[in-house]
Amino acid sequence: MRVLVLHGPNLNLLGEREPHIYGSQTLAEVNEQISTEARQLGLDVQCEQHNGEGQLIDALHAARKQYAGVIINPGAYAHYSYAIADAITAIGLPVVEVHLSNITSREPFRRKSVTASACRAVVSGLGASGYVLALRALAGTLEK
Ligand code: DQA
Repeated sequence: MRVLVLHGPNLNLLGEREPHIYGSQTLAEVNEQISTEARQLGLDVQCEQHNGEGQLIDALHAARKQYAGVIINPGAYAHYSYAIADAITAIGLPVVEVHLSNITSREPFRRKSVTASACRAVVSGLGASGYVLALRALAGTLEK
């Protein structure tokens, strides 16, 4: 069973970008944690990072033929990209949205996610372990 993990804009700078908010792990370290969990769950995981909205949309479109589920951290696009929300709905796969920080306790513009309602579930505020929990949730969903 294949799962795609999509990291959105600025997440390539994890580790150096506001570590008090997003943690000190680099994206490579987060991806390693995701891959370790995926192996234990028997999932084949692919992790990608894209800064562009269109790139994320293209990756979602491509996923519909190749993956059983998707985990996405849309970064700031979560707060205003109806195009990404539409793409998530369009592909018809189970998608879990992850945010490292608790977006509901941050600046007002971050408190709303327009992509979340297109997703099966949202994990926010648990740091990198949010991806691990999302993988476990998807593994259960995919078994059914
Ligand atoms: C984020 C939260 C967003 O508001 C922010 O723009 C990000 C990261 C998170 O993981 O907490 O880039 O998605």
